[in-house]
Amino acid sequence: MKVKARMQCIIPSCSKRYNINEMRTQCDCGNLLDIKYEGNFSKKLCEIFYDRRNPRGNIFNESGVWRFRELINFINEDSEDYDEYCKVFVSFDGAEGRTRPYEMIKVAKYVDMPPGNVFFQPEGLNPSGSFKDNGISTGLTHAKMLGVKEAICASTGNTSASLAMYAANEGIKATIYVPKGKIAPGKLSQAFQFSADIFQVEGNFDDALQVVLEKGAHGAYIMNSVNPFRLEGQKTIIYRILEYFDWEPPDWIVFPRGNMGNCSAFGKAIMELYKWGWIKKIPRFVSVDAAGANTFFKMYNGLYRDKPLRWNGGEVNDKLIHSYYEYLDKERIKPKTSATAIQIGRPVNIKKGLRSLDFTDGISTQVTDKEMEDGVAIVGSNGFDCEQASAACVAAIKQLVKDEIIRKDDKVVGILTGRLKDAQMIVSYRSNSKNQFANPPKTYKRT
Ligand code: F0G
Repeated sequence: MKVKARMQCIIPSCSKRYNINEMRTQCDCGNLLDIKYEGNFSKKLCEIFYDRRNPRGNIFNESGVWRFRELINFINEDSEDYDEYCKVFVSFDGAEGRTRPYEMIKVAKYVDMPPGNVFFQPEGLNPSGSFKDNGISTGLTHAKMLGVKEAICASTGNTSASLAMYAANEGIKATIYVPKGKIAPGKLSQAFQFSADIFQVEGNFDDALQVVLEKGAHGAYIMNSVNPFRLEGQKTIIYRILEYFDWEPPDWIVFPRGNMGNCSAFGKAIMELYKWGWIKKIPRFVSVDAAGANTFFKMYNGLYRDKPLRWNGGEVNDKLIHSYYEYLDKERIKPKTSATAIQIGRPVNIKKGLRSLDFTDGISTQVTDKEMEDGVAIVGSNGFDCEQASAACVAAIKQLVKDEIIRKDDKVVGILTGRLKDAQMIVSYRSNSKNQFANPPKTYKRT
């Protein structure tokens, strides 16, 4: 099956189109771009996707990203012609995206939900240890299609780890820009291990991203989530959830908020499936901020100037966003959370994020660093691994169940976005007997 794709401005009143052979992350009007596919897709594809779970030696069937290749086929290759697509699709030997929702009984009890109604999808099981691999595989596919020799990104650590890993495997140079001293050592060490070129930027992630966006304006290939081809891969996180539930959407999908790449990609996946008639129900999204980096929470809930920021059919109140950022600058307010992955004050995908929450009747909430730490520990007690930012979804579900916004008979899926790469976090937490899930090591006295 071949599909025609294009890039298109996300703002309906503009909708300017671009050829996918272009290297750009912005419309001429300055707004973000979507990948648009021509035609409708038959739900019969679900059977093919499922059948590929027996990969029969094909790594693109093993891959939980490329298994759904018809729905992310921006490259216009015949999805049934292995000899053709194997030359262009980028995969870490089929290892990415092999995740699905799991019941975690102790976490369910902790959030006060019946075990069969709450699920968590551990994206940390991806080869580089986070959900990023879903998107880097498609982003790098586009880069390779353009013959790019170097890809760049700004990162709080997981994007850079994933890009560095894939780039090393594909023989492309990875250059990464990280906020100096503000990323977990386990993430930085991955960039070293995969021999990326590393630049440390004074400031925070938002500053590092500014550097990268400027380089992009001068022709560099950007692998951050402003790259719409990357987001196509992240849609498969939703496909795997839906496939697990036989394409019957849950009531809620809950995830941490950083640059809002996931919120954007998840929303696009749901909007497309709804348009094609694959799903009738629309799951509600919960976007979760760290309380110390709560730009979106504040703006969405009208806590800045009493004006809730909304998608508003694409007529987003740009002035309100700029005025909030000016206020942050003036008051010298910097995002500050120990969940460094989501220590982001200016989410670049804010408009796509608003569109997703608009379509899904979504909500934005915030959780404290402490609540996220407890979340990491309870996930660990189930034998799973997640980092502090990922545990935002555990804390948020607990809070929303308590507030009776999530009902106990609702079906909920939380996305555990990444594996724990900050070893010291959990060692300190478990060693401190004041913590709820403390488990300090005991001294063994030899007799
Ligand atoms: N969870 C983890 C583990 C992350 O690494 C990130 C983002 C997010 C959540 C937020 O996701 O941007 O889609 O809203 N990490 C980026 C990075 C910024 O550089 O690794 P988002």
